[in-house]
Amino acid sequence: MDMISTTEQLYEYCETHSTAEDRVLAILNRETHIKTLAPNMLSGHLQGNLLTMVSMMMQPGLILEIGTFTGYSAICLAKGLRQGGRLISIDISEDYRHMAEKAICEAGLETCIELITADAKKIIHDIQEKIDLVFIDADKEAYLEYYHMVKPKMRPGGVIIADNVLWKGKVLDADMDKKTRALHEFNAHIRQDQDVFSLILPIRDGLNIVMIR
Ligand SMILES: C[S@@+](CC[C@H](N)C(=O)[O-])C[C@H]1O[C@@H](n2cnc3c(N)ncnc32)[C@H](O)[C@@H]1O
Repeated sequence: MDMISTTEQLYEYCETHSTAEDRVLAILNRETHIKTLAPNMLSGHLQGNLLTMVSMMMQPGLILEIGTFTGYSAICLAKGLRQGGRLISIDISEDYRHMAEKAICEAGLETCIELITADAKKIIHDIQEKIDLVFIDADKEAYLEYYHMVKPKMRPGGVIIADNVLWKGKVLDADMDKKTRALHEFNAHIRQDQDVFSLILPIRDGLNIVMIR
């Protein structure tokens, strides 16, 4: 058996032997694949379970998500909010907001998830409270900028999770394109940041999990 099919089969095994997607997420996953132009942007079952797991372990009071898309990861993250906690999710585009709103209502999470349509770079400054958990999953070239914007707002022990940090393996390329270089520089910056403890997990497209010491 070659390496790729073994990896794919193991990934499938992990999905079928982890807690199943609930009905709302399964429908949202399917509809995102039918109705959107880039369904591969959705976090998906296994990564979604990881986001839920981290959030459930932390029981955050405030989660910030940069990049809502159809709301899949927002729902996964919001499942771990403590009583009275809330999640702010920002997306520059309105294209799929209706899908996110519908799924969030079906999940019964409409009172704790706030969707904002804006360029995240322009409004993160407005957040005054301490943030417990951040999911960075928007424009790749701005990851380091997002990191510098959110880090001072994090409480000690807070966690920043950044998606797509392996960029389909392109971070290994000798000749990197702009997005790949930005992601590589983000990972390199985290590696030398003494204020944090970090772990890159090679799940899906790579998650950099960064805990503020
Ligand atoms: C990969 S998708 C998010 C997927 C979602 N987090 C999930 O896992 O289901 C990235 C989203 O970031 C949004 N985006 C791109 N640039 C942005 C910006 N400057 N501010 C806010 N959102 C942005 C895009 O419109 C897109 O919907």
